[in-house]
Amino acid sequence: MQIHTTIDSLRRARAHAGRLAFVPTMGNLHEGHIALMRQAGEHADAVIASIFVNRLQFGPSEDFDTYPRTFAADCEMLEAAGVEHLFAPDEAVMYPTRQTYHVEPDPAQATALEGAHRAGHFRGVATVVLKLLNIVQPNVALFGKKDYQQLMVLRNMVAQMALPVDIVAGETVRAEDGLALSSRNRYLSATERTEAVRLSRCLNHIRDAVRGGDHDFDALERAAMAELATHHWQPDYVAVRRQCDLQAPGDPKDALVVLAAARLGTTRLIDNLEI
Ligand code: PAJ
Repeated sequence: MQIHTTIDSLRRARAHAGRLAFVPTMGNLHEGHIALMRQAGEHADAVIASIFVNRLQFGPSEDFDTYPRTFAADCEMLEAAGVEHLFAPDEAVMYPTRQTYHVEPDPAQATALEGAHRAGHFRGVATVVLKLLNIVQPNVALFGKKDYQQLMVLRNMVAQMALPVDIVAGETVRAEDGLALSSRNRYLSATERTEAVRLSRCLNHIRDAVRGGDHDFDALERAAMAELATHHWQPDYVAVRRQCDLQAPGDPKDALVVLAAARLGTTRLIDNLEI
């Protein structure tokens, strides 16, 4: 695997890479990321990953400083997955001057759910992803459904800005007990890790209820929030939404998704399930 720390080095390699599939990450890689790398290989001649912990998408009280940085282990996993190129810039490369131009996502989509609890988060995500796409110039870029709202915001950015890249979604990879893999899972204590499975169980319960004909979404959401709170979680939201735009369900034919975010101790976990 070739590791590029500068834009020049990456661009030189890009010229000979053929059809290129790109998987941006913030590192601390797990099987969820690696599944995206493997899927990427099916879409292109070569795969490029990036590792960059993007300050712009973290709020002032969030975990930018403590976000796990495990570069050597990440490189081993990428090598083993057959990834050809890694772009691993430092902040001086990505933000040589203070980033004063930003992508402002549609507030209808970026201020609800995650956006309501993480002001400016999707602006930071969209800005860095636009910049990464411009640097890497891939034919296809892959993002996980684990971050469902992020995937939607980025799809819309690419469509509205007519960026010459195809966006492909990867399914959420889970631990055996159902917990969605996440770099933040490593913040959980052993007891919290056992409890953490409750989040995906709540989502499964709602999915099964809705599939079984229960359309009282409010009651289902409230019951799940109450169950989490009883078990010492601090839920931010549990919400049944339309898959297409994450707005409240209207037409009974709408394809739905249930999304949730909740804090367990000091760790904030998110998850979702398509219904
Ligand atoms: P990060 O959290 O490192 O995730 C990188 C990619 O892996 C994202 O597309 C995310 O949705 C996907 N992913 C994470 N956990 C997953 C799982 N359990 N199953 C499947 N895919 C999973 O998301 C980001 O980084 C950043 O916001 C980024 C897009 C890199 C911009 O900074």
